[in-house]
Amino acid sequence: MNILVTGGLGFIGSHTVVELLESGHEAIIVDNLYNSKVDVFDKICQITGKSPGLFIADATDAAEMDDIFSKHQIDGVIHFAGFKAVGESVSKPLEYYRNNLVSAMVVAEKCVKYKVNRFVFSSSATVYGEQEPPLKEDSELMPTSNPYGETKAMIERILTDVAKANPEFSVCLLRYFNPVGAHKSGLIGEDPNGIPNNLMPFVLRVARGEIEKLNVFGDDYDTPDGTGVRDYIHVVDLARGHLKAIEKDSAGVSVYNLGTGSGTSVLELVNTFIRVNGVDVPYEIVGRRDGDVATCYADVTKSLKELGFKAEYGIEDMVRDAWQFEKNKC
Ligand code: UFG
Repeated sequence: MNILVTGGLGFIGSHTVVELLESGHEAIIVDNLYNSKVDVFDKICQITGKSPGLFIADATDAAEMDDIFSKHQIDGVIHFAGFKAVGESVSKPLEYYRNNLVSAMVVAEKCVKYKVNRFVFSSSATVYGEQEPPLKEDSELMPTSNPYGETKAMIERILTDVAKANPEFSVCLLRYFNPVGAHKSGLIGEDPNGIPNNLMPFVLRVARGEIEKLNVFGDDYDTPDGTGVRDYIHVVDLARGHLKAIEKDSAGVSVYNLGTGSGTSVLELVNTFIRVNGVDVPYEIVGRRDGDVATCYADVTKSLKELGFKAEYGIEDMVRDAWQFEKNKC
């Protein structure tokens, strides 16, 4: 198949393009470079020995998207493009709602117009909000209260309505847990601009000595060591989940968690990083971060049964591959 990948130069997008190309599919990347770098394209080519299509374009631009859809035979779309920083979304709500909603609607509209009937959407476990884990796909949508989380839930609803109105249109909503790690080549990985918000990119900067220490947000949660527990998933596993989703032959809407089904605490992750990589990561316990839940992990029963998806990599692989990519960047 020929798959259009919006945000295809980003962290998860680039790994997904690699998996698509290595499985014999073709890919067309659309990326506006807002939170990615153009040299990721060369790295994708280097890893795969193939050259996907590339358009430096904005998925909110209906005219540009129409041009791309009209000129290419596209069999499916994986839509990653979007703003994703929770904290920033609180201070820039209009930018988040506009960018995330409009891009999803423009891409869906072009799919309907050009009869591209496979749509995979990059959603998030944030749509479960503070419900008790393990989180199941049929739980109510009650996103963590911030504009970023709201956009994920809204886009899920919009795409569901589009599928209802267009019976031949299939939508797969993939709810990611906490993607970390990097490709084993060390050539692509997570490379956020500015000071990172998420745990792993922050750990990497501390390990490199760029930031003095990691702040561990709270050690008084109701978890085995008191620190927050999350379901970390290797980005290559996550990318393979997309491959399964786009290859799945089904009409209507399907929803799948992409996680491992088990949780790891902040201190477990940090200590595994130190042990596996042999580098120090100084840290300090500070107060809880607003909006954090104690524990979040996926129920993976449905994605295993219906999608045939099972994460293969563990925490040691995640910290090793993340550090290898980070060292390569130096
Ligand atoms: N943490 C720290 N110090 C840091 C950063 C994070 O202790 O500097 C802790 C957090 O308190 C939490 C854990 O590390 O316990 C993971 O935090 P992240 O910010 O890496 O990830 P979150 O689980 O908060 O958020 C992620 C995604 C969001 C998504 C959310 C819900 O980043 O996009 O999962 O699924 F919305």
